Amino acid sequence: MVSDNALLHIEKIREDFPILHQKINGQPLVYLDNAASTQKPRLVLDAITDYYQTINSNIHRGVHLLSQKATDAYELSREKVRAHLNAEKAHEIIFTRGVTESINLVASSLGKGLIKKGDEILISALEHHSNIVPWQFLCAQSGAILKVIPMNEKGELLLEAYRSLLSDKTKFVAINHVSNALGTVNPVKEMIAQAHDVGAWVLIDGAQSVPHMPVDVQALDADFYTFSAHKIYGPTGIGALYGKEHLLELLPPYQGGGEMISTVTFEESTYAGLPHKFEAGTPNIEAGVVLGTAIDYVHALGLENIAAYEQELLRYAHQKMSAFEGMEFYGTAQHKASVISFNLKGIHPYDVGVILDKLGIAVRTGHHCAQPIMDFYNIPGTIRASFAFYNTKEEVEILLKGLAKARAMLS
Ligand code: ALA
Repeated sequence: MVSDNALLHIEKIREDFPILHQKINGQPLVYLDNAASTQKPRLVLDAITDYYQTINSNIHRGVHLLSQKATDAYELSREKVRAHLNAEKAHEIIFTRGVTESINLVASSLGKGLIKKGDEILISALEHHSNIVPWQFLCAQSGAILKVIPMNEKGELLLEAYRSLLSDKTKFVAINHVSNALGTVNPVKEMIAQAHDVGAWVLIDGAQSVPHMPVDVQALDADFYTFSAHKIYGPTGIGALYGKEHLLELLPPYQGGGEMISTVTFEESTYAGLPHKFEAGTPNIEAGVVLGTAIDYVHALGLENIAAYEQELLRYAHQKMSAFEGMEFYGTAQHKASVISFNLKGIHPYDVGVILDKLGIAVRTGHHCAQPIMDFYNIPGTIRASFAFYNTKEEVEILLKGLAKARAMLS
């Protein structure tokens, strides 16, 4: 029995996801680790097989028909990503391995002469390690200074402090749209406008936003925006970086190799135009093609419908969990995506995670690749339940029963 919703037929949707219909440790799987990676609908699984059975070949370099078909499919997917983000031009979409590679690409390219000693780069207290470490590399290499926008106990960024950190020294701001560890939705549109007022460029890590809400990079006026396919029901190993055309033109290439060049001699090389300048080597072609299929799938459901249903689940889970004795929430921002980070008083999160796993319930425990957030709260980690549109209120009830068992066994 699965709760339905006015907008989405959840029981029918769950039929699209074969992996959800299995037992884990003898119990029906309750998959609540969607912020780490989402499950794949049959449409996506079939598209992977279909790619290899029908058009597999290298792209952008063959005159033969298979190569042309694979190239067309890959470029069609780029167009779907463009439309999904409402970018103006398809060549503003660079395929990468995911958010981590996208951020490394931008930071590394900026390091080739565009960021100088004494320049300031702002990140926030809510960042994933992938939006911290590449900027530390850049600062170490260039002599730039890394500054951090602080947050409050609720896990909300302090916007007054942000405004006072911004100055004519600020050259770059890199923040997430939604925090992976706490679920906070940051007011990125406003923050981008304020960064632009001092002439800084802004990169938004959209790993946790793109799967859960409509995103319009032009309305946000983002300079760079990135997401990973595996968090939006697509394959691992592929993601996209959006960049405004004139900024991507300014950035030097990230990696050298085949496909990214115009001419090569032993003395010097010239580079291809966008997007190829940033896409050296044979990419993950199948995953690139299938990302387009995953985007088709979420569009068929409707991003607005997904957002509304997940918000309903979040409210339900939060309300039920609030009544649970010993519940300690981390991240209670006013605007949140469908992530609940919590601990049970006096119990280590890892121990709870192990017991939940025995009951077939998959959650993530630990620092969620966001150690500074755990340091802020002075805790080793949290238990994180992160919901997707295929989750149900019944699964929230199962989680609560699991937590009650864990508490009884561990306290
Ligand atoms: N960034 C992923 C997470 O939040 C892996 O779990």
